[in-house]
Formats: sequence, structure tokens, C-alpha cells
Amino acid sequence: MELWKQPEIAESYAKNNNITYPAAVAQYVLERLMTSRDNSKLELIVDAGCGNGRSLKWYLPYFHRAVGFDASEFQIDNARKLNKSPKVSYFVGQENKIAVEDGSVDLIIAAGSVHYMNANDFVCECNRVLKQNGMVAIYNHEYCELIVDDQPTQVTQRNEKPKFVSGFDIFDTFYQQPVKNYFSRENHPNFDDLCCYDHLYSEISGMKKEKKNGPTLDYYLSLKEFKDHFLSEPAYKKHHKLFPENSAPLNVMGQKLKCLSNTPELKDEELRLKVTVLLHVIFLSKY
Ligand SMILES: C[S@@+](CC[C@H](N)C(=O)[O-])C[C@H]1O[C@@H](n2cnc3c(N)ncnc32)[C@H](O)[C@@H]1O
Repeated sequence: MELWKQPEIAESYAKNNNITYPAAVAQYVLERLMTSRDNSKLELIVDAGCGNGRSLKWYLPYFHRAVGFDASEFQIDNARKLNKSPKVSYFVGQENKIAVEDGSVDLIIAAGSVHYMNANDFVCECNRVLKQNGMVAIYNHEYCELIVDDQPTQVTQRNEKPKFVSGFDIFDTFYQQPVKNYFSRENHPNFDDLCCYDHLYSEISGMKKEKKNGPTLDYYLSLKEFKDHFLSEPAYKKHHKLFPENSAPLNVMGQKLKCLSNTPELKDEELRLKVTVLLHVIFLSKY
């Protein structure tokens, strides 16, 4: 968590918008919220570990008031700069003291953040601030496919379908597994994030809980953007810095993906990828 507090992390996080949670995720969560309640108005939403507010923004039209908190003052500075809506306020804070009144919140979201928190403190505060018919949605994502254009520099003949090949095994073997092993060795909270919150889910008590597979999401991006996505997160960046450039798993993976596309000399900016992720969601509600 300390690593998140550095200003340069907030800066690169703000620049990196290639794999973020889109409006479809908010729709999925809101549909679930609405099935569990009557037509009562949605008043207040809280975003726990809101970063620069890029997940919270999708929910704003549906709520009268929104509050985002984050442990990093630099993320909160960015959130304030990026979101000027009068209905949203941001504060620097942590899961053990959510600065809203008891029983006042309709929905608490936590996008890719709860694994950095103390789960007990978070659940305890959720129980305190949530309305009786309120809901918590904790989410993260799992990589499930990565497609590479296998001849990106050749002009496609008329009627000839572009050829795409799966580079998922390369991603998994040369990047995801080494990172997972590193997080496991370091006992780093990101390990549970990569394990789809199985540990977090088993730890949660004191609220009704349910773990669901949400929608799959497709992202079209270059190899450079894909790499930058990981490098904008402190734990992945720290892992990357352990290696000389040529043997860093992120770069080894990149080179192998280029070879798969038959263009080993291509620049990272030029190799196009389609990355598919599966959303994992833990829903909590009050007993
Ligand atoms: C992966 S980012 C996700 C940010 C945002 N939810 C989003 O969807 O882009 C994780 C965020 O959790 C914040 N964070 C880490 N530990 C925290 C804690 N104990 N309390 C509040 N925020 C925390 C970090 O500063 C960072 O902004």
C-alpha cells in the first residue's frame, strides 16, 4: 500500500487508460443492486480505493451523491481534477474509517482495491455505513484470452479474412506465471488478486456473500499499451525492475508475441492485441 502513495505512481496510473472497467461493469453491478430492492431512490454511492475516480464516474448519473476515498493523496488530487461533478466528493482515507454516516449508503464499490486493505476492517465499516437494503460490489479481473494479428504488416487481400492467433499461452507462461510466483513468494496481496479473490472470499464473514463471474470484456490495444498497463501498478513495476531489460518477463513475453505474429522486428507500438478478461465480483449485503 505504501508504494501506491508515491506521486509518480498516481501520474502513470492517470496516463494509463487502456485496461479500465467500462460502463458495462457499472451496468452489471447496478442491475444486480436493483434486483434486490424496490423502487426506493439511490442516494449515496461510496468508492473504496477510488484511485483517480475512473470507475466511479460511470455510476454518477444514478446517484444523488457520491464519495470516493483512497489512501493516496496524489490519486485523490487527480480524482478531484478529473471529476468536477458537484455531486461527488473525494477524501484521503482508508477502509477502517469511511467518512459517511451510519446506515446511509446504497452501494459501495471497490474496483481492484480490497486486496490492499484489511478485509475485516473493510467489512466492519461496510456493515456500519450500508443501508439495510444496500449492497457492496468488490471486483477484479482475470485474463482469459490474448489474440495477436499474425501478419500485421501484410496487406490483406480482398475477401481474405485477417488471421489471428492466440498468444495467451505465451502471456501466461512467460509473464503471468512468473509474476504470480513472485507475488506468492513475497506474500504480496496482488497474489490473491491474480487468484480471483478466492482467499478474500473465504476470509469475509459478518455479511451475506456471493461470488459471481461477471461479463467478459474485450480491449483492443498495442503491445506497448499492454505493457504500460502493468508498469503503472507498483507491484508489477517492482517485479519488472528486478531484471535486466532483455530478460524481464514482460519483455520476453513481448518478443515472443512478435515472433508469433511473424514480425520479430516490429515496434511495441505497432503490434496490435485483443485482450479479453473475465470480471470476478463478490457481492455483500447485510444480514
Ligand atoms: C488498482 S488501483 C484501483 C483504483 C480504482 N478503483 C480504479 O478502478 O481504477 C488500487 C487503489 O487502491 C488504493 N489503496 C491501496 N490501499 C488502500 C487502502 N488501505 N485504503 C484505501 N485505498 C487504498 C491505491 O492507492 C489505488 O489507488
